[in-house]
Amino acid sequence: MDLWKWFGLVCVLASIRNGLQAADVSDLVESLPGQPPVKFKQYAGYVTVSKSHGRAFFYWFVEADSKKASSLPVAFWFNGGPGCSSVGVGALLELGPFFPNYNGTGLIRNKHSWNKLANIVFVESPASVGFSYSNTSSDYSYFSDDLTAKDNLAFTLGWYEKFPEYKKNELYLTGESFAGHYLPELAQQILNYNELQASSNKINFKGFAVGNPATDAYSDNLGATDFYHSHSLISDETYKKLKDNCDFAYDLPVDYSLHNATCLNTSNYALDVVMREINIYNIYGPSCNPPAKSGRPAFVQSLGMVRLAGVNPCAPDNVYPFLNSPQVKAALHARADINWTECSRVVGANYTIPDYTRSMLPLYRELLTKGIRIWVYSGDTDGVVPTTSTRYWLAKLNLSIETVWYPWNHSSQVGGWSQTYTNLTFATVRDAGHEVPQYQPGRALKLFKHFLKGQSLPTFNYTK
Ligand SMILES: *[C@@H]1O[C@H](CO)[C@@H](O)[C@H](O)[C@H]1NC(C)=O
Ligand SMILES: *[C@@H]1O[C@H](CO)[C@@H](O)[C@H](O)[C@H]1NC(C)=O
Ligand SMILES: *[C@@H]1O[C@H](CO)[C@@H](O)[C@H](O)[C@H]1NC(C)=O
Ligand SMILES: *[C@@H]1O[C@H](CO)[C@@H](O)[C@H](O)[C@H]1NC(C)=O
Ligand SMILES: *[C@@H]1O[C@H](CO)[C@@H](O)[C@H](O)[C@H]1NC(C)=O
Ligand SMILES: *[C@@H]1O[C@H](CO)[C@@H](O)[C@H](O)[C@H]1NC(C)=O
Ligand SMILES: *[C@@H]1O[C@H](CO)[C@@H](O)[C@H](O)[C@H]1NC(C)=O
Ligand SMILES: *[C@@H]1O[C@H](CO)[C@@H](O)[C@H](O)[C@H]1NC(C)=O
Ligand SMILES: *[C@@H]1O[C@H](CO)[C@@H](O)[C@H](O)[C@H]1NC(C)=O
Repeated sequence: MDLWKWFGLVCVLASIRNGLQAADVSDLVESLPGQPPVKFKQYAGYVTVSKSHGRAFFYWFVEADSKKASSLPVAFWFNGGPGCSSVGVGALLELGPFFPNYNGTGLIRNKHSWNKLANIVFVESPASVGFSYSNTSSDYSYFSDDLTAKDNLAFTLGWYEKFPEYKKNELYLTGESFAGHYLPELAQQILNYNELQASSNKINFKGFAVGNPATDAYSDNLGATDFYHSHSLISDETYKKLKDNCDFAYDLPVDYSLHNATCLNTSNYALDVVMREINIYNIYGPSCNPPAKSGRPAFVQSLGMVRLAGVNPCAPDNVYPFLNSPQVKAALHARADINWTECSRVVGANYTIPDYTRSMLPLYRELLTKGIRIWVYSGDTDGVVPTTSTRYWLAKLNLSIETVWYPWNHSSQVGGWSQTYTNLTFATVRDAGHEVPQYQPGRALKLFKHFLKGQSLPTFNYTK
């Protein structure tokens, strides 16, 4: 038994004796290789979501970088895909306390880390994402929204067993992209769970904030097509062909579908020929060229790109060597025999197709009446789930407007625009791509701060 496990056992015994509840110290991360010193604690490891199947989700929990950490909210973060890693993408490229350096050998501080404001838990969901796994191989042949939502609830409950002292804190869900399915679905699971619990046992769940979310296939696909056309990425002829031949309600996001040969051919032409050289996740930013291929020699390029653009489009290349180093896996308590990948092929291949296109709008109509905080934000240079798409489905919800579309200020510049509705706040983030905190870290942190406080984003207080 290693020292920390032993120490953990002593703490558990001591807490039973004292009636106190303390964190699972065996998951404590002392320090990561190449990590700058910090004052906050980190934990990482596994939460079992199915005992009978031997299925476990990996998490990385960074306590708030604040003396008040124990009273600040907890926020879970989920990346999308489906199949992409919250640890490798969310934590190490977007909003975590550290980013990998240019060759993946160490870490640098992210001064806009969301753990300045809250305790952040990066969750790898569903099984086979990142370091998460199942010991039952049939779990890898079928994935769905329903299974993921139930596993995410099991994760939530299992996480509280490890960290019971955080039960009193407010809980928020955050995430982006396909987490547009995960967040409202987990919210519903938590609310249903709470209905069956005595008040002392309820999860202190307050709401969710979701960015560039996959929500309603028809709106998302039509919005993307209109965005490509209105942003001069495709020709009038291609635009017309897509509109005439695609069935937006049943086609897959971004790569459209297999339903209609002309639609498929035209979308392949638009995305793989005409738009291939741009970064569709951030249409005006630089691309990681040559195109993403494992083993591309990107490190040297990355340095140049950072200076040029502020955001390194090849940054994912730095995450691979970092998370796959045996020392890092050991420090994070990740299984040594799992090779970390940015997005799980297994989930991508076997997530049931109807759930990709299932509309979340009926669920929104339900959740909007439940007294939780719902924020939807949108990086306005994303071409994957563009702002246009989100505006189309918000319009379908026919919500009452409380504050009309206004520019919000950040450092005396327009951070984006916001419109508030009864029980839902919408905000764009100007010049941000799909991964909003990666492309506009300061604006994203401001948005997160206002979300946590339940305060509208500030407008400008002078006229020119
Ligand atoms: C999966 O199997 C490994 C190896 O037998 C075991 O160590 C681990 O505890 C199992 N995981 C779960 C969640 O049961
Ligand atoms: C990685 O980059 C750091 C500077 O960020 C440098 O000190 C170190 O020598 C590099 N290591 C390798 C293996 O290239
Ligand atoms: C998807 O599931 C099938 C079984 O239904 C399995 O044979 C296949 O290996 C799975 N795909 C991947 C990429 O793992
Ligand atoms: C594609 O859809 C359009 C519009 O519904 C239809 O006119 C066309 O025949 C379809 N093409 C194929 C190959 O199915
Ligand atoms: C597919 O698109 C290419 C390029 O636009 C075109 O030359 C070809 O005829 C198209 N094929 C079909 C079946 O529509
Ligand atoms: C992990 O990667 C190594 C090196 O590429 C390879 O030898 C090994 O088979 C991989 N393991 C798994 C479980 O995929
Ligand atoms: C807004 O939320 C409250 C609960 O906080 C609910 O009673 C009300 O019906 C909701 N309004 C709409 C329009 O959904
Ligand atoms: C939208 O809401 C307004 C009232 O706010 C109502 O009059 C109208 O019928 C609604 N439209 C739809 C399509 O539900
Ligand atoms: C932006 O909003 C903040 C908070 O309301 C305010 O203090 C600041 O003066 C505003 N800046 C401008 C330029 O209006």
